[in-house]
Amino acid sequence: MMRVFLASLIAFHFVGLMATDDQDKPSACVLETGSCLIQVSQNSQVLMDKLYQYAHREGLNGINTHTCFETVELFSQNHEPEIFFPGNLIFLGESENNIRSIALCLQDGQCGHISVQDGITSLNFCHLTDLNLNEFSYCAICKNADTSFVNEIDTDPLRFNVDESSILNQEFDHYFVNKECLPYVLSPKDKQITLTNFKAWIEEHQHELKELINTQGALLLRGFPIDDAEDFAVIVKAVLGRELIDYKGEGSRRRIVHGVYTSTEAPPEIKIPLHNELSCTINPVDYICFYCDIAPNPGAGQTILARTADVTLEMMKRPHLWNLFNGKNINYISRHPPEGSFFTRVNPTHRTWQQVFETQDKKEVERICEQKGYDFKWDGEWIEITRHVPAIHGPDHYFDHPYWFNQVHLYFMNPRLCGGWFNYQLFNLLYFASSSRPYDIKFEDGSEITQESVYEIYDVLDEVTIKFNWEKRDVLLLDNRKILHGRAPYIGQRHILATMIQ
Ligand SMILES: [Fe+2]
Repeated sequence: MMRVFLASLIAFHFVGLMATDDQDKPSACVLETGSCLIQVSQNSQVLMDKLYQYAHREGLNGINTHTCFETVELFSQNHEPEIFFPGNLIFLGESENNIRSIALCLQDGQCGHISVQDGITSLNFCHLTDLNLNEFSYCAICKNADTSFVNEIDTDPLRFNVDESSILNQEFDHYFVNKECLPYVLSPKDKQITLTNFKAWIEEHQHELKELINTQGALLLRGFPIDDAEDFAVIVKAVLGRELIDYKGEGSRRRIVHGVYTSTEAPPEIKIPLHNELSCTINPVDYICFYCDIAPNPGAGQTILARTADVTLEMMKRPHLWNLFNGKNINYISRHPPEGSFFTRVNPTHRTWQQVFETQDKKEVERICEQKGYDFKWDGEWIEITRHVPAIHGPDHYFDHPYWFNQVHLYFMNPRLCGGWFNYQLFNLLYFASSSRPYDIKFEDGSEITQESVYEIYDVLDEVTIKFNWEKRDVLLLDNRKILHGRAPYIGQRHILATMIQ
């Protein structure tokens, strides 16, 4: 029976183009029978960064498309036109081994064009005024192409996004620790650097560091003298320039110091699926940061990561799944018993409303719900809270295209979330009455979400998962919109702290 309580810990946490043609003559190119599209999608800047990273790793002067991407996907000719999203990179050619050109879709009706005959030899921009996606026709390079972006391609790949004169390059080593190039790592060249000096340096160069997080999505500070939770709080506030939020939610966390909590205390044998923190709420946090107090054994217990852009692309490759959620609101439902309830005694992770709202006053609970835009209703001494949140967000100031941003797969109880069928059955046994279930999920119109679709979401997340091994004193700063996080199972010790910034 204990396993079900441990398994349910998880649930309570998540309240967190063109063809190269005659350069002088704009023309159209029709993708012929037997041709294919190979596409990789990213936010455009991230995508270009990735190109540099792979090129550097492969020792290429230019970029050979076949060696650049290990995640290329072959599309049939019956592809969905939605792949022409801003930020998508589109490969055109007769086959996967014979790419003629790459197009980087920058925004509606505008694309960048890269010739790849001999590595990157040119990059131009043109406006597509008569793009006919249904006929697979594209304009060629426009006469008034803006080639200023080429200069960025010519820069040293190691120093992408960082100006050569930047003090970042003088003071720190920066590198990646995995082939997916996430997170971006900074380490001090001066191993004797003090926390005081580092903090002073951060305050002077905060803009450069924030820019790094904004472009990369994930920044790992490694090898700095950040010795405890208080140091962690100091550094995060210095880098991001904002106060840490006082977390009040359904998550199973313990406060260490103000604004710093344990990461989700889910049982070690269970994987915490990837998610954007609090994407089940109307106001999710902007950043979530982690601190490694005790590193798990290498190869286990990683804080797993994924790019929101990658998740979105993979979802869009499954139109039946994407269209099922696109344009729909999700109802995230939570139920909290009062103090002393049987459920709380049996399962301490099923948090009472007094714990969640940190008050004994029902009126105060109602005030907080109204302030946050939650629907609520009392059922005796129990409270049921419902949040209405879109499953897919954007375009907005975070992304210039729609993006997957929800926690459907964490609110739908199922064997994969529980860590197995046995745990799932125990959960159902304890919560046989639907009115006591700690959480539920439906579409806003009341229609049900199926286990089949939830399982497909898990499959997608598995495909895009990125891992790195923790080291003691590591600080990981994540842009919560751009990066998902989760946790791999582990055995033994692991102590990771977390903080969030709105
Ligand atoms: Fe989380």
